Amino acid sequence: MAGGTRWGAAAVAYRAWLLLTVAQHVKGVVSRDPIFLAEIQNQTVSEGRNVRFACRVDNLGSHKVAWIHYENSAILTVSNHVITRNDRITVSRDKRQNTYYLHIRNVRETDTGKYMCQINTASAMTIAGYLTVVVPPDIVDNESSNDVIAQEGSDIKLRCRAKGSPRPIVTWKREDGQHIAINKSTTVLEYQGEVLRLSKVNRMDMGAYLCIASNGHPPTVSKRILVSVDFPPMLWIPHQLIGANRGKTVVLECFTEAHPTSLNYWTRGDGNMIYDSMKYRIENRVGNPDYKIHMLLTVRYLEEDDFGTYRCVAKNPRGETDGTIKIYDSGPPPTSPPPPTTEAEVFEKINNQVWDRSENRTRKRPNPQAVSDLNGEGEELDLRDQERSLNLPAISPSSGSRGASHLYPLAGLAGAACLLWARRF
Ligand SMILES: *[C@@H]1O[C@H](CO)[C@@H](O)[C@H](O)[C@H]1NC(C)=O
Ligand SMILES: *[C@@H]1O[C@H](CO)[C@@H](O)[C@H](O)[C@H]1NC(C)=O
Ligand SMILES: *[C@@H]1O[C@H](CO)[C@@H](O)[C@H](O)[C@H]1NC(C)=O
Ligand SMILES: *[C@@H]1O[C@H](CO)[C@@H](O)[C@H](O)[C@H]1NC(C)=O
Repeated sequence: MAGGTRWGAAAVAYRAWLLLTVAQHVKGVVSRDPIFLAEIQNQTVSEGRNVRFACRVDNLGSHKVAWIHYENSAILTVSNHVITRNDRITVSRDKRQNTYYLHIRNVRETDTGKYMCQINTASAMTIAGYLTVVVPPDIVDNESSNDVIAQEGSDIKLRCRAKGSPRPIVTWKREDGQHIAINKSTTVLEYQGEVLRLSKVNRMDMGAYLCIASNGHPPTVSKRILVSVDFPPMLWIPHQLIGANRGKTVVLECFTEAHPTSLNYWTRGDGNMIYDSMKYRIENRVGNPDYKIHMLLTVRYLEEDDFGTYRCVAKNPRGETDGTIKIYDSGPPPTSPPPPTTEAEVFEKINNQVWDRSENRTRKRPNPQAVSDLNGEGEELDLRDQERSLNLPAISPSSGSRGASHLYPLAGLAGAACLLWARRF
């Protein structure tokens, strides 16, 4: 409404201005034509600053100088008078230099545009300068996405509304530096645009996404949007069959993936839940990414009752899964000739190495025939020697393949070595 009044006033002023122009012309007041002495300098300023445009005129005579904001079709000033109701605008005059100054205080983005200095000659004379108001980028939070939770297989849309002047460019990145999977066929390290659409998301798409708005005028701003992808638990068991003899300690392991994080636990074959105790040690190691869990169950000092079936279970709101592992009695250690190390000790040693390895992912790929000592003391454990001393069948390297572990009804060391072999390839 204030705007309407202002426009009204501007229109009236403009008509007056035109009448004045025509009247002067009719009276023949004009003797020599006015001239502009200099161009108007363009200005680029940050929002909130003050700005001044100068218009130098000679031979003005009885003509008048007006300042006009072209985009708003608004007469701002005529001679020494401010016409607009915009109180941030003033006019001043330097008589010696024949210069009219237009001052704009506390500039806003809407002040951007062309400012014309016009003289009311018969056909108006005009020069103009441009004002560019720079506004650093900002992200409009209530028009941008918040954290998203999606089902695996669904499509999602992330939005970041950015404002600023010049108009900011919005770039998307993953916080972990991974590529963004737009769809099955397209992955990009960065994506430009206010809206990022991901088609048929899966667990690999889970993580923090950053939208970064920049327009060449610091500071650049960003928003972090967390994308969670829910899916039912999945489970993988590297060794389903573990042979060991009495008195020894074994470690069972299951790998699970689930989001939201599943409840993971162990039961015996009869369904009884297993708890931490003198007999059992339970550990769940969070992997990377953290929807992966490495479940470890240590069964200490094997007794008759401990042989049999164990079950690892993972449950989350999307579903449930389980898997079984069997510990069988590999029988008493051979009596003659006494081996340099007992079978069980060898087993345990290999077994420990398996766990050690999972803690060090940078380890070099070992020779399948010889497992180097993982404590790094240079001690080598040669399985072939142990096998010979234990009178067990030799393991052929070509027999190793993932999942082959159940195919070998070998006792003790051979079984363990085979499992180890299967695990490494
Ligand atoms: C001001 O900017 C305009 C358009 O960007 C350009 O045409 C003009 O030449 C510039 N004037 C000066 C004095 O640099
Ligand atoms: C966002 O908030 C601003 C004020 O902070 C408000 O003017 C605007 O209408 C809001 N937009 C939406 C879509 O809610
Ligand atoms: C994947 O996304 C790219 C980029 O948006 C698009 O050009 C392409 O057609 C899409 N492919 C499929 C199979 O949807
Ligand atoms: C992993 O193994 C490498 C190579 O043997 C070693 O340099 C590094 O210290 C080990 N890291 C850990 C955490 O054990």
